[in-house]
Amino acid sequence: MPSVKRIDHVAVVVDDIESALEFWRDGLGLEVTHVEDVPDMQSIVAFLSTGDSELELVKPTDEDSGIARFLKERGTSMHHICLEVDNIEHFIQRMQTLGIRLINSEPVVGTGGKLIAFIHPESTQGVLVELYELTGQEPEIRLARARALADRAISGGKAVASAVLGFLRRLRRSGSDDD
Ligand code: CO
Repeated sequence: MPSVKRIDHVAVVVDDIESALEFWRDGLGLEVTHVEDVPDMQSIVAFLSTGDSELELVKPTDEDSGIARFLKERGTSMHHICLEVDNIEHFIQRMQTLGIRLINSEPVVGTGGKLIAFIHPESTQGVLVELYELTGQEPEIRLARARALADRAISGGKAVASAVLGFLRRLRRSGSDDD
Protein backbone atom coordinates (compact mmCIF):
# COMPACT_ATOMS: atom_id res chain seq x y z
CA MET A 1 0.00 0.00 0.00
CA PRO A 2 1.54 3.36 -1.05
CA SER A 3 2.30 5.62 1.87
CA VAL A 4 3.65 8.98 3.01
CA LYS A 5 7.28 8.45 4.04
CA ARG A 6 8.30 11.70 5.73
CA ILE A 7 8.29 15.50 5.49
CA ASP A 8 10.82 16.23 2.72
CA HIS A 9 10.93 19.99 3.16
CA VAL A 10 9.22 23.08 4.51
CA ALA A 11 9.29 26.16 2.27
CA VAL A 12 9.51 29.81 3.31
CA VAL A 13 8.97 32.72 0.91
CA VAL A 14 11.54 35.49 1.28
CA ASP A 15 12.26 38.72 -0.57
CA ASP A 16 16.03 38.31 -0.23
CA ILE A 17 17.78 34.93 0.00
CA GLU A 18 21.05 36.39 1.21
CA SER A 19 19.49 38.13 4.20
CA ALA A 20 17.41 35.00 4.96
CA LEU A 21 20.66 33.04 5.06
CA GLU A 22 21.88 35.27 7.88
CA PHE A 23 19.41 33.42 10.09
CA TRP A 24 19.04 29.95 8.58
CA ARG A 25 22.69 29.41 7.57
CA ASP A 26 24.69 31.72 9.83
CA GLY A 27 22.41 31.68 12.89
CA LEU A 28 21.35 28.03 12.86
CA GLY A 29 24.37 26.69 11.03
CA LEU A 30 22.35 24.90 8.36
CA GLU A 31 24.28 24.05 5.21
CA VAL A 32 23.08 25.24 1.80
CA THR A 33 22.84 22.04 -0.25
CA HIS A 34 21.63 23.49 -3.51
CA VAL A 35 20.45 26.69 -5.14
CA GLU A 36 18.36 26.64 -8.25
CA ASP A 37 16.63 28.91 -10.70
CA VAL A 38 13.12 27.60 -11.37
CA PRO A 39 11.75 29.50 -14.38
CA ASP A 40 8.47 27.52 -14.25
CA MET A 41 7.83 28.87 -10.76
CA GLN A 42 9.40 32.28 -11.51
CA SER A 43 11.63 31.92 -8.51
CA ILE A 44 15.07 31.11 -7.20
CA VAL A 45 15.17 28.49 -4.47
CA ALA A 46 17.84 27.59 -1.93
CA PHE A 47 17.70 24.34 0.00
CA LEU A 48 19.33 23.93 3.42
CA SER A 49 19.83 20.55 5.03
CA THR A 50 18.06 19.85 8.32
CA GLY A 51 19.24 16.25 8.58
CA ASP A 52 16.73 13.92 6.98
CA SER A 53 14.74 16.82 5.52
CA GLU A 54 15.31 20.30 4.16
CA LEU A 55 14.30 23.89 4.49
CA GLU A 56 13.52 25.64 1.19
CA LEU A 57 13.88 29.39 0.74
CA VAL A 58 11.88 30.71 -2.23
CA LYS A 59 12.46 34.13 -3.74
CA PRO A 60 10.23 35.35 -6.56
CA THR A 61 12.02 36.53 -9.71
CA ASP A 62 8.99 37.98 -11.47
CA GLU A 63 6.65 40.55 -9.95
CA ASP A 64 3.56 39.06 -11.61
CA SER A 65 4.04 35.50 -10.38
CA GLY A 66 1.89 33.71 -7.83
CA ILE A 67 4.85 33.57 -5.44
CA ALA A 68 5.35 37.36 -5.74
CA ARG A 69 1.65 37.94 -5.02
CA PHE A 70 1.88 35.66 -1.99
CA LEU A 71 4.86 37.66 -0.71
CA LYS A 72 3.06 40.95 -1.28
CA GLU A 73 -0.09 39.77 0.53
CA ARG A 74 1.43 37.86 3.46
CA GLY A 75 4.99 39.10 3.68
CA THR A 76 7.87 36.70 4.25
CA SER A 77 6.28 33.60 5.76
CA MET A 78 5.85 29.87 5.48
CA HIS A 79 4.70 28.87 2.01
CA HIS A 80 4.23 25.09 1.81
CA ILE A 81 5.14 21.74 3.28
CA CYS A 82 6.30 18.88 1.09
CA LEU A 83 5.61 15.23 1.88
CA GLU A 84 7.58 12.44 0.27
CA VAL A 85 5.40 9.60 -0.99
CA ASP A 86 6.42 6.35 -2.65
CA ASN A 87 3.81 6.50 -5.44
CA ILE A 88 2.65 9.97 -6.42
CA GLU A 89 0.25 8.73 -9.13
CA HIS A 90 -1.56 6.66 -6.54
CA PHE A 91 -2.09 9.66 -4.26
CA ILE A 92 -3.24 11.89 -7.13
CA GLN A 93 -5.82 9.31 -8.18
CA ARG A 94 -6.96 8.68 -4.63
CA MET A 95 -7.45 12.40 -3.92
CA GLN A 96 -9.29 12.95 -7.17
CA THR A 97 -11.65 10.15 -6.22
CA LEU A 98 -12.27 11.89 -2.89
CA GLY A 99 -12.97 15.23 -4.60
CA ILE A 100 -9.86 16.88 -3.16
CA ARG A 101 -8.86 19.84 -5.32
CA LEU A 102 -5.41 19.57 -6.88
CA ILE A 103 -3.23 22.26 -8.44
CA ASN A 104 -1.37 19.59 -10.46
CA SER A 105 -3.57 16.73 -11.56
CA GLU A 106 -0.49 15.20 -13.24
CA PRO A 107 2.95 15.03 -11.59
CA VAL A 108 5.39 17.68 -12.86
CA VAL A 109 9.19 17.87 -12.63
CA GLY A 110 10.03 20.32 -9.86
CA THR A 111 13.27 21.52 -8.25
CA GLY A 112 16.18 19.11 -8.37
CA GLY A 113 14.34 16.87 -10.85
CA LYS A 114 11.78 15.86 -8.25
CA LEU A 115 8.43 14.51 -9.37
CA ILE A 116 5.90 16.72 -7.60
CA ALA A 117 2.26 17.73 -7.42
CA PHE A 118 0.66 20.52 -5.39
CA ILE A 119 -2.68 20.16 -3.63
CA HIS A 120 -4.97 23.20 -3.53
CA PRO A 121 -5.17 24.96 -0.11
CA GLU A 122 -8.94 24.99 -0.49
CA SER A 123 -8.92 21.26 0.29
CA THR A 124 -6.24 21.36 3.02
CA GLN A 125 -7.49 23.89 5.59
CA GLY A 126 -5.40 26.60 3.96
CA VAL A 127 -2.01 24.87 3.98
CA LEU A 128 -0.31 24.51 0.61
CA VAL A 129 0.86 20.87 0.43
CA GLU A 130 3.33 19.49 -2.10
CA LEU A 131 3.74 15.77 -2.76
CA TYR A 132 7.07 14.44 -3.96
CA GLU A 133 8.33 11.15 -5.33
CA LEU A 134 12.05 10.45 -5.67
CA THR A 135 13.19 9.81 -9.24
CA GLY A 136 16.35 8.16 -10.62
CA GLN A 137 17.26 11.15 -12.80
CA GLU A 138 17.24 13.69 -9.93
CA PRO A 139 21.05 14.04 -9.54
CA GLU A 140 21.58 14.64 -13.28
CA ILE A 141 18.83 17.26 -13.53
CA ARG A 142 20.10 19.00 -10.39
CA LEU A 143 23.59 19.23 -11.85
CA ALA A 144 22.40 20.67 -15.19
CA ARG A 145 20.25 23.27 -13.45
CA ALA A 146 22.95 24.23 -10.95
CA ARG A 147 25.38 24.76 -13.86
CA ALA A 148 22.89 26.99 -15.66
CA LEU A 149 22.40 29.00 -12.49
CA ALA A 150 26.13 29.24 -11.85
CA ASP A 151 26.49 30.93 -15.24
CA ARG A 152 23.86 33.48 -14.32
CA ALA A 153 24.97 33.89 -10.72
CA ILE A 154 28.24 35.48 -11.81
CA SER A 155 26.31 38.69 -12.36
CA GLY A 156 24.03 38.04 -9.34
CA GLY A 157 24.65 37.97 -5.58
CA LYS A 158 27.95 36.71 -4.25
CA ALA A 159 26.32 34.45 -1.64
CA VAL A 160 24.21 32.72 -4.30
CA ALA A 161 27.24 32.23 -6.53
CA SER A 162 29.32 30.73 -3.72
CA ALA A 163 26.45 28.47 -2.66
CA VAL A 164 26.12 27.17 -6.21
CA LEU A 165 29.85 26.59 -6.50
CA GLY A 166 29.88 24.79 -3.15
CA PHE A 167 27.02 22.61 -4.34
CA LEU A 168 28.83 21.72 -7.56
CA ARG A 169 31.96 20.83 -5.59
CA ARG A 170 30.01 18.53 -3.27
CA LEU A 171 28.25 16.91 -6.21
CA ARG A 172 31.57 16.22 -7.92
CA ARG A 173 32.94 14.77 -4.67
CA SER A 174 29.96 12.47 -4.16
CA GLY A 175 30.18 11.47 -7.85
CA SER A 176 33.82 10.43 -7.49
CA ASP A 177 32.94 8.36 -4.42
CA ASP A 178 30.83 6.15 -6.67
CA ASP A 179 33.73 5.36 -9.02
CO1 CO B 1 8.80 22.80 -2.37
